[in-house]
Amino acid sequence: GFSFLTKMASFTPLSNQRSSLKHLFFLPLSEKKKKNGPKSLRDLRAERQAQAERSVLVSCHPKTHENKFLKYLSRHGNVNKCFFYESFGTYAVVEFSNQDGVQSLLESAAMPSVSHESVVPLRSRLLSLRNVNTVDTDKQSAPSANHRELTCPLTVFLLTQLEQQIVSLTEAHSLTDENTRLRFLVCSLLNDIAAAYFPQSSIKPFGSSVNGFGKLGCDLDMILDLDGTSEGNANMPRSGMYMEYLVKRTSSERAVTQSVLSVIAGCLDQFGPGCVGVQKILNARCPLVRFAHQPSGFQCDLTASNRVAMRSTELLYLFGELDARVRPLVFTVRCWARAHGVTSPIPGAWITNFSLTIMVLFFLQRRNPPILPTLDRLKELAEPSEKCVLDGNDCTFTSDFHRISLETNTETLDQLLGDFFEFYSTFIFNRMSINLGRYGKEHKPELHPLYIQNPFETSLNISKNVNSSQLERFVTLCQESAWLLQSGSHLNTLLLPSHISVVRGRKKRKSQPASERIKGLLESLRIKNNQDTNDIDFH
Ligand code: CTP
Ligand code: MG
Repeated sequence: GFSFLTKMASFTPLSNQRSSLKHLFFLPLSEKKKKNGPKSLRDLRAERQAQAERSVLVSCHPKTHENKFLKYLSRHGNVNKCFFYESFGTYAVVEFSNQDGVQSLLESAAMPSVSHESVVPLRSRLLSLRNVNTVDTDKQSAPSANHRELTCPLTVFLLTQLEQQIVSLTEAHSLTDENTRLRFLVCSLLNDIAAAYFPQSSIKPFGSSVNGFGKLGCDLDMILDLDGTSEGNANMPRSGMYMEYLVKRTSSERAVTQSVLSVIAGCLDQFGPGCVGVQKILNARCPLVRFAHQPSGFQCDLTASNRVAMRSTELLYLFGELDARVRPLVFTVRCWARAHGVTSPIPGAWITNFSLTIMVLFFLQRRNPPILPTLDRLKELAEPSEKCVLDGNDCTFTSDFHRISLETNTETLDQLLGDFFEFYSTFIFNRMSINLGRYGKEHKPELHPLYIQNPFETSLNISKNVNSSQLERFVTLCQESAWLLQSGSHLNTLLLPSHISVVRGRKKRKSQPASERIKGLLESLRIKNNQDTNDIDFH
């Protein structure tokens, strides 16, 4: 009965893992592996994808009787997991223990009959729960207690120890198990549409949805892999007869991507249940389709043939798994940046989360002893089988945690956060670049205010959109935050814009007039107009 559902609807594994975070900081890697056993991103992905494929998304009445709902579902198959969430209505994610449950449920579903409208008769795993006996008004059974908040909770941080505050902040903002399941489910639902044209296709999440640095509410970046090529393929025989597909040819891979995305965008727009505001952004350096998936509340970016970005997702994931301090530090810096408008959800001349993450990783590579290895070191450690060249870029690095060893560094998160701000307060941005590759002062190859080298497409600057006023603002905020931490401030002080602007007002009233800010804003708007979709234009 009810307890059965409560059991199924409650989750502990992730939170358990997080609560033990603090105790894992200083364990050598081998110890950590015994406890945690980090999974490769590939395995994690496969597991999540399989879960998603045997799941359905159901729009429900807010007062749906959970027991009755579960009982109804169990007629179709064994339910592994079921949870409710709110996003422009109430929804349930239902995972069956196998595909048969999904099939049986779909076969039993009816097409809606509406009197004044017509429907696109597309049968998908996005369903709506109906009840012939009108609504169940049994208040006691309303599933509110089990509803998951999938958006960002506004938590107040009143803890004493800075380190504890950092851990709590990370816990409050990282993607939950439910949110991650929903992300994979949305990919799987969208893929059902793409698979109508390309039966071998798969839509995979990348970026912060899977790299370990995702914050609740972050966008859902997806890659449409048309025939499994992004994972490497082709067993071409060395001799003898073989078959080849007879295919249509076009001028470039880019042209193929554009036409495929254009068709998929059209489908999503016209037939895709829950897909609204579909925009084709096909002339960006990395063509994409942007839309909102209403039932999940996710802002989606769908790209194709973006293999290098998949690889950088894996790299970021690896860095996040290598040391338990990495994620909390990245989270704190990202929250801090968002609170002070260093980053913004609107494309423009701002620093992006991706850039900030690389800045934190770069800083951690420069501790003494280093907390993270360089990318060149990870390349040296790779086995011949791990060699990977994508679109002419060497993307080789080892994903084997056992081969990566580092000297023990026992710095605390407090120290690291303070030193991060200090580090970038004095970083010589006009001469130096930020580069995960190797040690040694890297000189800037070009004149953009901030130069952060793309880890794999090394001739690209991922932050070329950042203008000098945004960079100055970042540096000023770093200085002030370093000062606040030195004077013993709590994390919530650091995250409140007003506290820092008070300091700024005192220090910089004359040198930073309001017109500077307006100038910065105008400049960013200009950049926005010149380059459509700056943030996704993988320079
Ligand atoms: N990316 C890239 N070059 C850029 C921007 C993005 O290679 N200039 C890749 C990165 O792998 C990044 C992914 O595209 O992780 C998604 O980009 P974006 O959504 O901008 O960043 P996220 O890391 O997903 O962070 P956020 O939470 O802000 O979405
Ligand atoms: Mg993203």
